[in-house]
Amino acid sequence: MRDLFDRIIENKGPLGKWAAQAEGYFVFPQLEGPISNRMKFQGREMITWSINDYLGMANLPEIKKVDGEAALEHGAAYPMGARMMSGHTAYHETLENQLAEFVSKESAYLLNFGYQGIMSAIDALVSKDDIIVYDVDSHACIIDGVRLHVGKRFTFKHNDIESLEKNLERATKMAEQTGGGILVISEGVFGMRGEQGKLKEIVALKSKFNFRLLVDDAHGFGTLGTTGAGAGEEQGVQDDIDVYFATFAKSMAGIGAFLAADKEIIDYLKYNMRSQMFAKSLPMIYVKGALKRLEMLKTRPELKAKLWENVNALQNGLKERGFDIGTTTSCVTPVYLNGSIPEAMALVKDLRENYGVFCSIVVYPVIPKGLILLRMIPTATHTAEDIAETLDAFSAIRERLQNGTYKRLSAAVAAAMGE
Ligand SMILES: Cc1ncc(COP(=O)(O)O)c(C=O)c1O
Repeated sequence: MRDLFDRIIENKGPLGKWAAQAEGYFVFPQLEGPISNRMKFQGREMITWSINDYLGMANLPEIKKVDGEAALEHGAAYPMGARMMSGHTAYHETLENQLAEFVSKESAYLLNFGYQGIMSAIDALVSKDDIIVYDVDSHACIIDGVRLHVGKRFTFKHNDIESLEKNLERATKMAEQTGGGILVISEGVFGMRGEQGKLKEIVALKSKFNFRLLVDDAHGFGTLGTTGAGAGEEQGVQDDIDVYFATFAKSMAGIGAFLAADKEIIDYLKYNMRSQMFAKSLPMIYVKGALKRLEMLKTRPELKAKLWENVNALQNGLKERGFDIGTTTSCVTPVYLNGSIPEAMALVKDLRENYGVFCSIVVYPVIPKGLILLRMIPTATHTAEDIAETLDAFSAIRERLQNGTYKRLSAAVAAAMGE
């Protein structure tokens, strides 16, 4: 018989197989200093484009003060136990009420982490007779949530309403046999390519099909909509989103997440979501911290205005220089280039070492072979100077990519990798 670890040692996985070449630099890099537009990487200052601190809240003194005071008063542990047993406080409840009001829903429920929270919500929302129909490009947490489902599931092509309609027809037929219902899942903003989910079009299908809609708005919350209430507000369909999800890990620069829906649905989730029933409550540091961040979201609209000034300057600047930024309709700014993985590594090294620009690279298998995606997250902390320097750097690296410099520089790496 084979030892369980044999396979793991032989096959490190699609990303893990690059660990020797990538770890510490391309993956698991250590960014140092306060979270802001410029941080240190390996001792050098970098313009940082890879942090989801959209509104620049992470390092605001008034927020850090609240975080610090909560830590001093409560420590990191309070309250102990799951919400249901001994981990419930008036602050948790206040935050839930304020979140519900902010996203125009009757009720809200706090989650310790977005990832586990949405998985567990999916698990609780469906029974074996129900059918899930979800966007094929959904975030890993949605895919993992769907994996928990023991009934049928269908994917629809990314943001493709015709494909959704076809799958809703199939799901409807099946649901008529099983006696179950249908849950459609999409995202407010798809975090790699930056496209907003076509929520308006999805919601329009409710006139033809009977389904409930769950939206993961991790990247839309705080960044989209007049008040920052997210993609549903932006597209004028917030009321038609049956279960709204957002995390504190991005525009709120914290930890935790929440679900918002009709009171009856939230009440059900409170008593049936395993990730919350059987796990410790969100600590007070994060609860009081989130209350402060939500207050800032509501009272400091200039943060979102500055974010969008930067998003527009960066995206327009890239387009003017002929870069392909795909079909983004959000702050997430992808830049697509053609090249191999070794070329991508040489390019990113050049960007960091010679231009002081730090952004994340995404390569195969996350995107198709031969494509390089430089994923940029503009924030309210970036300056016009950061954008101008970055645009010049991008023009320079594109030229080197096209004239074969990176191919030559990475030839040895490519040979070693068998690329
Ligand atoms: C679309 C999306 N959903 C959910 C999550 C998970 O949220 P959290 O970081 O709070 O676990 C993320 C990433 O953070 C995300 O990008």
